[in-house]
Amino acid sequence: QEPQATATRRVLLPAPRSFCAGVERAIEIVERLLEEHGPPVYVRNQIVHNAHVVADLESRGAVFVGELDEVPDDALVVFSAHGVAPAVEREAAARGLDAVDATCPLVAKVHAEAKRAAEGGDTVILIGHEGHEEVVGTIGVAPDRTLLVESTDEVAALDVPDPARLTYLSQTTLAVTEVETIAEALKRRFPDIKGQGAEDICYATSNRQAAVAAVVDEADLVLVVGSANSSNSNRLVELARNAGVSAHLIEDAAAIDPAWLAGAANVAVTAGASAPPQLVDEVVRSLAALGPIEIVERVHTHETQEFLLPQRLRPSAANRP
Ligand code: F3S
Repeated sequence: QEPQATATRRVLLPAPRSFCAGVERAIEIVERLLEEHGPPVYVRNQIVHNAHVVADLESRGAVFVGELDEVPDDALVVFSAHGVAPAVEREAAARGLDAVDATCPLVAKVHAEAKRAAEGGDTVILIGHEGHEEVVGTIGVAPDRTLLVESTDEVAALDVPDPARLTYLSQTTLAVTEVETIAEALKRRFPDIKGQGAEDICYATSNRQAAVAAVVDEADLVLVVGSANSSNSNRLVELARNAGVSAHLIEDAAAIDPAWLAGAANVAVTAGASAPPQLVDEVVRSLAALGPIEIVERVHTHETQEFLLPQRLRPSAANRP
């Protein structure tokens, strides 16, 4: 009798996935500084929330620290893509540190909105996850006028100084549906509150979610490449699980448990905005090593976003060919 042919597994690749423009810019800032200035280049917090990116930059001379007091005087320090509270910028300036800001421009935009609202006399209601670095930085813009909410229950429990003077904003990497639900609850409780739905969620986060949502019904298993502390990666796992599909966050191909693949004829593989694309390639290769696969690319949106480097790192006119 003929041996039964192994069934071909379909590997669905929703696009966009992996690096966003803000992450590419932040990594390039550290790389350029390592080239132009030489090591050590201190970086406050992980430049982006990915263990592979951090380890790679560390091997080239970047030194990651949690606080500025770990940075020697006169050193060069980079602020991570998640942004910093103005107090940190002031501390760096007071110490004479040479600081380069790799804050994603879309996080900086939320900071600017928080500043404008607080200066206009509003209390800022920030929808976000307590302790996340971006949230810490955004609260730091107007620490005395910002309240954090993570859920509709917390909206119900909010105690605000003046219900007529409120603006809500959100962390950039949350689930679009969750922010919309919390924003609705805020508007029901405080009809005069200012804010625009899930507008602060960045294009990269919402595009990666929409791309996964578009394939999840066809998938038996969703693998999301990303680090455990990556907010937007975790949201992709939740999205799949909320659709009733088994999903796992994996640091890299080595983290795949073969037991997950039993009976999974259709596997979607995506990656959070901080996870390098090579890691997705490695996952696909490791799936191919287990048996025949058919790769199906599913493009939901083409991303064209690019962000300029900080002025001091842009090629000068004299250097241009
Ligand atoms: Fe910026 Fe969004 Fe990427 S805030 S760093 S574009 S995930």
